[in-house]
Order: sequence, then C-alpha cells, then structure tokens
Amino acid sequence: MYAIRPATVADQPAVVALLVRLQADPEHHIGYHGVTAEEVAEEFGRFAPDWVSGAVLGTDDSGAVRAVLSVDADAETGRAWLHGPFVDVPAAHPAGRQVWHNTADDLFDAALALPRLKGIDDLELYGHRRNRRLGDFAARQGFSAGAASRVFTLTGSALRSVLVSAVDAGEGPRVLGAEPAIRAQVVELHERCFPQRTVSGRQLVDGERGHTVVVLTGVDGLIGYAAGFVAEDELYLDYVAVDPNMRDAGAGRALVRSLLRALAARHGARQRAAAVIALGNDASERMFTALGFDLHLELVGYRRK
Ligand SMILES: CC(C)(COP(=O)(O)OP(=O)(O)OC[C@H]1O[C@@H](n2cnc3c(N)ncnc32)[C@H](O)[C@@H]1OP(=O)(O)O)[C@@H](O)C(=O)NCCC(=O)NCCS
Repeated sequence: MYAIRPATVADQPAVVALLVRLQADPEHHIGYHGVTAEEVAEEFGRFAPDWVSGAVLGTDDSGAVRAVLSVDADAETGRAWLHGPFVDVPAAHPAGRQVWHNTADDLFDAALALPRLKGIDDLELYGHRRNRRLGDFAARQGFSAGAASRVFTLTGSALRSVLVSAVDAGEGPRVLGAEPAIRAQVVELHERCFPQRTVSGRQLVDGERGHTVVVLTGVDGLIGYAAGFVAEDELYLDYVAVDPNMRDAGAGRALVRSLLRALAARHGARQRAAAVIALGNDASERMFTALGFDLHLELVGYRRK
C-alpha cells in the first residue's frame, strides 16, 4: 500500500513525470489533463490559488510518488473537479486492482479533508472511456455517470487554412468589447445553453478564467458567441452557442473560425485546435467536422452532488 500525504512544491516535477507516463495510457487517462509535461505543468499553474494546496499524494516505501489526486475548486459555483485519481501499480502486481482502488479511496478521503473543498459538495471526475477503474471508483463513491463526450481536434493544413483564410468582411464576428448590452446577452445565452456549465457567464465575459470571447451580432443584438483559451500547445474552444432562431445558417462555423483567429492573434498560432462535444450533439459535431475537425478521443464525466 502507498502512504498518503499532502503534496509539497518540491513534489511537482515527480508528479508531472508520473502523470505524463499515465496519461499516455487510455486506461489511466484523465480528461482534464493533456499528455505532455508542459501541458500538465501549465494545467497545474491554472489551479486557483495554486496546485500544491489542493493535491494529495501516495508514495511507496522508498518515498517515490506513485499516486496523486489534485483538486481544482470554484467557491462561486460551488463545484470542484477532481483531477485523478492517478495510481501507478506495477503491471505484475498480484493484487494490482485492489491496490489501485484502496489507494484511490485513501486519496479521495484525504482530498475531502482539504480546506479547498470546505463547503463544496458538487464534485466531478472525468476520464477516458477505457479508464474502467475510474468508472468503478466513481460508482463506489456515489458519483453518477454523465453523458460521454468526444474531443475533436484540428491540425496541420486544415488548421492553417482556418487561420489564414480571408477574414469575414465587415459584419463577421468580432472580439467582445465593453458594450454592457451585448455582454449581458452573452451571459444570458451562455447560461441558457449550458446549464451544467463549468464557467459562469459572468466569469466568461470578465475573462476571469482566461477566456477570449468573440461575438456575432445582428440588428436585434446577439446572434451567438464563442469562447476559448490557449493551453500550452493548443487553441481550445470551450464554448460556442448560437441563438436558437439563428441556427443552421453558418453562424456557428463563422464564430469558431473567428475565435481561432482571435486566439492565434492574441497568443500566437499553435499546432492544434481542440473542442469537447457531448455525445449526441449532432449539430455541434456537424459544425466542427465541416471545419475539418476529427475525432481524437472519447471521455466520460461523473458527478456527485
Ligand atoms: C452547435 C451550434 C453552436 C451550431 O450553431 P449553428 O449556427 O447552427 O452552426 P452552423 O450553421 O455553422 O452548423 C451547424 C450544422 O449542423 C447541422 N445540424 C443542425 N442540427 C442538426 C442535427 N440535429 N443533426 C445533424 N446536423 C444538424 C446544420 O445543418 C449545419 O450543417 P450544414 O451547414 O452542413 O447543413 C448551435 O446548434 C448551438 O448553439 N447549440 C447549443 C449549444 C451547443 O451545443 N454548443 C456546442 C457545444 S460544443
């Protein structure tokens, strides 16, 4: 069994190395994390106020880090995202499955006692569809499985052509400005389209979570918006929504293109663009595949309230 303890700043390089190894395997993969050391380190850097005070570890007899669970929480929405549990059990271990589950339970108990989770009772887990131990752990701990989602990515020449193609003349989407009415409409459309949202409409328009927002407006105000951010090597499309009366006319596609360009202009171009789409959201899949996006991986979320 592994000994459980809080993380320290000095542990971070070992934790990043462990995650990079485990993230490469779908049976361990967690949806909140990328796969490179740079991506994981950057994701840790986005935890508020920091990664270290929200992380618990499992160490082996030699003191090496073999397990981790990191918690990112938002007091405003009362939600927390459990990044893990990651447990590294030697492949030949006779009781590997048991060690994984016992360690995961111990990490979870330790995480629940962290000050970061005080007053927060809406918890989420998110892993690869083939991370079956995560599914078993979630069920045992009283989480219910949510809808599966698919990560679509755009790379190479398809991405370059979106970034360099002619900018929509004049009346196309633009970066959200200071206009209070449009900002209020973005908040309203966001909360209507994404009731299970991770980021509130206000946080989105205020850029509190690092989003760039583009909007498309018409004579009656907001038609739609798209919001995303840049992660280490990726332009990430977090949200896109179009007023229900204005759909199926290409607005969604124009917003996605415009957001990718705005992100690249603001932060520099990247090798890849990515978006997560709920399984069954056919309009969204159609919109992204029409832009050249391909299916990259499938993930499942679990939630306990
Ligand atoms: C997804 C969304 C942003 C698309 O906006 P839009 O302005 O309609 O997008 P586009 O017109 O560029 O493309 C939509 C495509 O889906 C197609 N479509 C619409 N409903 C569909 C359905 N039920 N099944 C399959 N395709 C569908 C449209 O015909 C269109 O394809 P086409 O132009 O090749 O005919 C919009 O449906 C929306 O706001 N949905 C709610 C929020 C949401 O789910 N956002 C995505 C989260 S990842």
